[in-house]
Amino acid sequence: MKSEILRTLREASDGFVSGQVLSEKVGVTRQAVWKNITQLKEYGFVIDSVTNKGYSLVSSPDRLYAADIESRIDKGSLCQKVESFDTTDSTNTRAKQLAELGEREGTLIVAEEQTEGKGRRGRHWESKPFTSVYMSMILRPHIDPAHISGMTLLAALAVVKAIKQVCSTQPFIKWPNDIVLEKKKICGILTEMSSELDYINYAVVGIGINVNNSSFPEEIKDKATSIYLETGKKQDRAQLAAITAQYFGEYYREFIEAKSLKPFISEYNALLINRDKEVKILYGMQENASENKIETGIARGINDSGALVVDTAHGIECVVSGEVSVRGLYGYV
Ligand code: BTN
Repeated sequence: MKSEILRTLREASDGFVSGQVLSEKVGVTRQAVWKNITQLKEYGFVIDSVTNKGYSLVSSPDRLYAADIESRIDKGSLCQKVESFDTTDSTNTRAKQLAELGEREGTLIVAEEQTEGKGRRGRHWESKPFTSVYMSMILRPHIDPAHISGMTLLAALAVVKAIKQVCSTQPFIKWPNDIVLEKKKICGILTEMSSELDYINYAVVGIGINVNNSSFPEEIKDKATSIYLETGKKQDRAQLAAITAQYFGEYYREFIEAKSLKPFISEYNALLINRDKEVKILYGMQENASENKIETGIARGINDSGALVVDTAHGIECVVSGEVSVRGLYGYV
């Protein structure tokens, strides 16, 4: 009900909505509207009430709050439901638990803080409260489990489009799952799934965006940054989470219909930071292990299975996500 109230207040053409109109739109009594508005105010929403005019939403708190995010996502989008936590171990873990219990596709889990934020390859994901976006969406795609890495690529497209829209800055993609701004990482994506050999029970796409962080721990500060650090402007995290979920839903539905990544190749390749640049392919899971095979080549872009096509001295290599790590020759990108 709160998300409907917020949505109606946001859509008000002259800024005000009467208690009567709100109660009709939301389908509850005026008393219930008043009670929910009081609770929203207690939560930090600034809502003016003016006699004979009604209610007006003045501002929203800088919090990742389920009803607020829901109210900013178009009706009919893949994401219809958001669950928010002040703190949780990992939004991916939460999403997987809910998926196991039968939660429907599109449900989004967000948290202010993660105590066990997960990165790829078992790494830790720095997850301080009130600065970033931590979000995970439940999916039930009827696709071959071998094609699940496509979800990461679609999420990358969605994050780039959302950041460009909300923050008026142009990020790029470092294949397969990093979003970069000024050659530093501002976002990572972790896709996990539960599957049989030929069937996906569910997948979870987890997205962590460094939004308003003003510093990073010593060990990652050379390669991690935030939108705030690069643009000097603080951003509306709830809006960024909502728009990202909205765009991801649109890309996902198109992908499911096309049954291929083909429609997205040129958009993705245009955003690929390593395109036509020399990259180092690290085969094996340990990036620094001396026994790993390393090859260099020129990254050309992704193919329609989402593999990175690299021109090497031994010919074309199609590098599959999850098996390798790709680095620029002289640093992170
Ligand atoms: C990476 O770059 O290694 C992937 C990082 C993914 C982090 C996000 S934050 C939201 C979701 N929950 C997690 O525990 N991880 C992902």
